[in-house]
Amino acid sequence: MKKFLFFVLAFFCMEGFMELNAQPGATKKILVAYFSESGNTRVVAQVIQGAVGADIFEIKTVQTYPKEYNPLIALAQKEQRENARPALSTRVSNMDSYDIIFVGYPNWWGTMPMALFTFLEQYNFAGKTIIPFCTHNGSRLGSSVNDLKKLVPKASVLEGLAIRGGRSGSFELGSQRERETVQREVNAWLRRLGMVN
Ligand SMILES: Cc1cc2nc3c(=O)[nH]c(=O)nc-3n(C[C@H](O)[C@H](O)[C@H](O)COP(=O)(O)O)c2cc1C
Repeated sequence: MKKFLFFVLAFFCMEGFMELNAQPGATKKILVAYFSESGNTRVVAQVIQGAVGADIFEIKTVQTYPKEYNPLIALAQKEQRENARPALSTRVSNMDSYDIIFVGYPNWWGTMPMALFTFLEQYNFAGKTIIPFCTHNGSRLGSSVNDLKKLVPKASVLEGLAIRGGRSGSFELGSQRERETVQREVNAWLRRLGMVN
């Protein structure tokens, strides 16, 4: 009888343990890597980090971009035309240890800033899961997901999220009200992906 009770107890303990591990992403190591010029994408990155319990990493360029709008959009367009690879000043030292990488950026001229092209070419993403997200002023993800997929052909790329951030520099997502909207949209998306319950 004692033996029987022991097995019943052990079974229920095991069930509890397995359920814990069945939590989406519970055993996966997650990184949120993002580039943000005026702060909108940073807000979304932080919300994702909080929701899934990830590490966070900011992709930064060696050369900083102009603060004024017109020179900024002109330089971004020039970089895109030239298919440039701006040098990065930050590096993920332990990329191998991550299973899932959220990759965030503002939509620049219909796709990712060229710094993201540098970033995606710098690591081996084979076998990893990449989840893109962007902020934008009307063009949503544009062609960014297709462009991203070409750079990480051996990764599995999941559904991306586009959040309206307004015009660059307006930092619309900074307000409390906007942050709550971001939280709602991010949580709905993460649930669809099975990343949160
Ligand atoms: C150089 C540049 C190009 C942009 N191009 C687009 C675009 O093609 N489509 C769009 O919807 N928004 C465009 N935007 C607006 C940004 O995507 C939007 O403001 C974004 O939220 C900025 O994110 P950040 O604050 O993280 O830098 C552009 C902004 C800049 C600075």
